[in-house]
Amino acid sequence: MATDVISLIKEDHRDVESLFERLKAMPENRPALLAELAAKFVAHSEGEEDEVYPVLAKRRPEEKEEVHHGAEEHHEAEEMISRLLETDPDGPEFDTLLRELVEAVTHHVEEEENDILPALEKALPFEERVQLGKAFSKRKAEVLAAPLKPRSRTKDELAHQAKERGIEGASAMTKDELAAAVKRKKQERG
Ligand SMILES: [Fe+2]
Repeated sequence: MATDVISLIKEDHRDVESLFERLKAMPENRPALLAELAAKFVAHSEGEEDEVYPVLAKRRPEEKEEVHHGAEEHHEAEEMISRLLETDPDGPEFDTLLRELVEAVTHHVEEEENDILPALEKALPFEERVQLGKAFSKRKAEVLAAPLKPRSRTKDELAHQAKERGIEGASAMTKDELAAAVKRKKQERG
């Protein structure tokens, strides 16, 4: 039985959740688990952004905003992964950063499974989803074979997040100021 892109994506989600559990439960194995998580997360995200999201946005223009939001969340999570990679796995900061990452990724996975994947299922017949699954897997393999490069949010993405959160004066802010304002707003809301 062929596997379609939706099953492949969900399988990756369960894999990341299991890595989160192991990261929490096995502090002594954190370096290897974090390296595995970083490589898999970036490959999965790039696979989605390069192969899956554009197909959905084309077939269902009403999903464009959701797809854009999904990519933004990938880049934000990759920023958190970069910070974790630079943090002492035995120090207290690691636990805080890991908690923030788990929260952000759990939220993203929920949105994807509740909105993006059902929309994809409606937009594409099974055969096309199988083909898309192949393209997704191929792109992931390419990213996995290349040196790890977690991305970060672009200035446009930060400006978009600032606007969504009702931050005033965003258009006059620099990239760093935008990042700081978005972070403050998030902390205010807890
Ligand atoms: Fe995603």
